[in-house]
Amino acid sequence: MQVINSVKEMKQVRQKLTGTVGFVPTMGFLHEGHLTLVRRAKRKNDVAVVSIFVNPTQFGPGEDLQQYPRDTERDLALLEKEGVDIVFMPTPNDMYPDSYNTWVETSGITKRLEGKKRPGHFRGVTTIVNKLLNIVLPHKAYFGQKDAQQLRVIQKMVADLNMHVRIVTVTTVREKDGLAMSSRNIYLNDEERKAALVLYKVLSVAEELYMRGEHDAARIKVKMTGLINKESLAKIDYISIANSDTLEELTYIDHPALISMAVKIGTTRLIDNRTIG
Ligand code: PAJ
Repeated sequence: MQVINSVKEMKQVRQKLTGTVGFVPTMGFLHEGHLTLVRRAKRKNDVAVVSIFVNPTQFGPGEDLQQYPRDTERDLALLEKEGVDIVFMPTPNDMYPDSYNTWVETSGITKRLEGKKRPGHFRGVTTIVNKLLNIVLPHKAYFGQKDAQQLRVIQKMVADLNMHVRIVTVTTVREKDGLAMSSRNIYLNDEERKAALVLYKVLSVAEELYMRGEHDAARIKVKMTGLINKESLAKIDYISIANSDTLEELTYIDHPALISMAVKIGTTRLIDNRTIG
């Protein structure tokens, strides 16, 4: 496994690669969710490249950039075990030198949900993903459904900018009890970890209501809100039932809908989602 720390070297190495390249961008502190993407990239391509870069431009002021969990040694050991060919770990200064002045921004869907709550977040994501794709030049890039809006924003960017990459979606990997795996789960203490299960539980309740014939989005949201509010450590940031393509809020669920939410458990903000219909 080759570990590359500079953009220049990554571009040089890329030029010499032959066959199909599968790429998994990450911010590190890897878990089974990330590793599922990695395995897919490895199995379906001749060369598997993984990047680890905690991208400062996608964190807002007051967010957890400084505390974001990091464990490079462990990450590299995990990736080595998976048979990854190249790990790209650039420095912030190499990606964003002082002279840096270019931003990639997708409008429309970035104004809703996460984008509304975290202004500038998706501008940071689309900019870094664009840069990484330009450096690694993969045939396929792998993203998790866990970050459903991020996935759609990247698909939109790739389509709008006619980029030469196929975006592959991987379903959300969960802990045994249902909690979606996330690097941020490490912030939870035992009590909060139990409380965090409420996200998965209310998604299941919402789906069940829908399956039993409830198509009124507001009524489903009221049920979800009530259940989350019963959990004293949980505080709702938003709950959404939206058209799964455009992410526009639905009043009546008559085609595939994305139920998504952000909930604070103590001081940790968690997101989760499920597609129904
Ligand atoms: P990060 O949160 O490290 O996630 C990297 C990739 O792993 C994303 O595509 C994310 O959706 C996927 N992922 C995370 N948890 C998952 C789970 N439980 N199941 C399946 N996939 C999961 O997302 C980012 O980093 C950054 O925004 C990035 C795209 C790297 C740009 O900086």
